[in-house]
Amino acid sequence: MKVLVTGGAGYVGSCLLPMLLEAGHDVTMIDMFMFGCHPIMHIASHPQFTVINDDVRNEGVIKKHLKGKDLIIHLASIVGFPACARDESAAVSTNLGSTKLIVDNMEMGQHLFYASSGSSYGRVKEICTEEVPINPLTLYGRTKAESEAYIFNSKHGKNSIAFRFATAFGVSPRIRLDLLVNDFVYKALHDKIIVLFEGHFRRTFLHVKDCAYSYIHMIDRIDSCNGEIYNVGSNDMNYTKKEVALMIQKKVNYELYEAGVGKDLDERDYEVSYDKIIKTGFSNTIDFETGLNELIKVLTFMKLRMEFRNA
Ligand SMILES: NC(=O)c1ccc[n+]([C@@H]2O[C@H](COP(=O)([O-])OP(=O)(O)OC[C@H]3O[C@@H](n4cnc5c(N)ncnc54)[C@H](O)[C@@H]3O)[C@@H](O)[C@H]2O)c1
Repeated sequence: MKVLVTGGAGYVGSCLLPMLLEAGHDVTMIDMFMFGCHPIMHIASHPQFTVINDDVRNEGVIKKHLKGKDLIIHLASIVGFPACARDESAAVSTNLGSTKLIVDNMEMGQHLFYASSGSSYGRVKEICTEEVPINPLTLYGRTKAESEAYIFNSKHGKNSIAFRFATAFGVSPRIRLDLLVNDFVYKALHDKIIVLFEGHFRRTFLHVKDCAYSYIHMIDRIDSCNGEIYNVGSNDMNYTKKEVALMIQKKVNYELYEAGVGKDLDERDYEVSYDKIIKTGFSNTIDFETGLNELIKVLTFMKLRMEFRNA
């Protein structure tokens, strides 16, 4: 296939690109390298890989690079509710605006895989299946939910798949330390303390390489899975925040301090069912413990330095 990937230099994208190339696809990537271009260095010389350093909000760029593609994998985004709250206008123009540009300029027969998020569920009491009405509480969640709606109300909806990802964790060429598990492991290793609030809140996780692999899985099933939304994760990786902290404590010696105050704006306390994607044959290839071991191995040597502190 000829595949266009937006946001390919990110945490998920930099795991996905080599998988696509290895599967024999012809890959064009558009990214404005907000976090640098080093995450794609290891594949830069691949003859079937084209790199476009540009902004997905630019209609001319989108029009030009949609031409001749069989599949568009749209990952570029301002990711997470804190980043979206920091610059709301960039969040809306990137997350929703670029999705509209892609959908409005697609040709009939092209396929779209959209990176949505479990954040679009918001506060839900029942187990989140794809049929549960969504109620996003943050701008990030709303941009994801509105993008999904725009796609599936368009004439390209029947050729599109939305991936509602669990919170990713694990090591990628572009590591992210703002994600819950990665953040906890870093704090356990370097601060030797985790201050835990809302420890009973339930969250759901998937290794970043399995997030990427879900796209490869769906390419092979594109005709039977089209027009659908899938929760992408593992039924075995729904944990409370405290359970995550305790699993880390079995491996790293640190103090777990449970605070009575503290609150996440997205109030994510939910359990997600992954039965629908499991029925397509998907299962995670990396379990939680393996992901934790890998994080400990790498983050031990990754100490963030503050410009204004000597140590
Ligand atoms: N990582 C997770 O836990 C998770 C969970 C649910 C959903 N998702 C979704 O998966 C996708 C990828 O997430 P990620 O963790 O890899 O994020 P990331 O922040 O690591 O990567 C995003 C990439 O998009 C690029 N980008 C941002 N704005 C752009 C623009 N205007 N033009 C061109 N490039 C732009 C950035 O440079 C970056 O390389 C996102 O859509 C995100 O919402 C991720």
